[in-house]
Amino acid sequence: MMPPELENAIYGMLATPVLRTAEKHGVFARLIEGGPAGSEKLAGDLGLDRDTLERMMLLLTALRVLDLGDAGDFRVPAAVRPYLDRREPLFVGGFLEHLAEETSARLGRLDGYLKEGRPAEAAAPFGEVYRDEETMRAFMTAMWDLSYGASTELVTLAGLDGTARLVDVGGATGPFSVAALRAAPRLRAVVFDLPAIRPLAEETAHAHGLADRLEFAGGDFFTDELPAGDCLAFGYILSDWDDETCVELLAKAHRACTAPGRVLIMDRLFADDRTGPPATAAMNLVMHLEMAGRHRTAAEFAALLERAGFTDCEVRRSGGEKHLIVGHKNRR
Ligand SMILES: C[S@@+](CC[C@H](N)C(=O)[O-])C[C@H]1O[C@@H](n2cnc3c(N)ncnc32)[C@H](O)[C@@H]1O
Repeated sequence: MMPPELENAIYGMLATPVLRTAEKHGVFARLIEGGPAGSEKLAGDLGLDRDTLERMMLLLTALRVLDLGDAGDFRVPAAVRPYLDRREPLFVGGFLEHLAEETSARLGRLDGYLKEGRPAEAAAPFGEVYRDEETMRAFMTAMWDLSYGASTELVTLAGLDGTARLVDVGGATGPFSVAALRAAPRLRAVVFDLPAIRPLAEETAHAHGLADRLEFAGGDFFTDELPAGDCLAFGYILSDWDDETCVELLAKAHRACTAPGRVLIMDRLFADDRTGPPATAAMNLVMHLEMAGRHRTAAEFAALLERAGFTDCEVRRSGGEKHLIVGHKNRR
């Protein structure tokens, strides 16, 4: 019999588009908000083709994303629910959309990259991600979905009570800053990101009632210096870039960091022997297709921090996929 691991790998290509399509058409929202339902009822409620819907739901059931009861009713299991519920901070819909629409369109590049390496012109990733207003908005939604839920735990791990000014480098619409400001009432934060992000970032600050404490600074972290603060955060930034660029960015952070101060790297971590976790290995390949970076082990991040002048590196693991690595400047 075929090992289940190989079977999963062979049929895995169906999982992301089926999940994304079901999410897009409100299947999970209907099951979560309206309760368990059979495919006929569900197809009627959502105006979808029953046969197609049932096949998709049977696949999701086999993948254990859905449960199927004896009466033929599908339900979303409790452990899966927060990730598929549009009202929850852990909701992954925007990230799924990114994987299904953007990442999958780039998978065809693998063959060429494998034979000839990644071409030099692929080194400026954000021009492609931000090719128009719609793709930029979609990317920001994906980043929010990927980072906001995780940030609540990361803020606790970081312990921001004694921090005065957080600089969220490449902070996007501020998933980490918003979580940080909610947890630490005396904190002020500045999101530093490309100027095009400003309207979306300001919209978010207003929507969360944080416009008085969350500021946006538009700039380019390759050509501009970073705003000053006693805590500089890099959430899913260093995984976009190669080691030399990371050291350059961290050295900028070291200059901008008032002492005593800290840098927070928040990113996926490979296990020390790089045998997993699977999501990190998958996104390591995605970084190669979409960005110019890779995922790293804790020791690799510590080495980058030391090269940039930070000391006393600490790794604080979360219960999720995004972990915290702290580097200090003039630690007391
Ligand atoms: C992968 S996203 C990470 C977003 C957020 N920090 C998080 O943890 O979800 C990378 C961010 O870096 C920003 N960025 C990319 N190049 C930049 C540059 N040259 N200067 C400033 N920000 C940049 C992007 O606009 C984007 O918001």
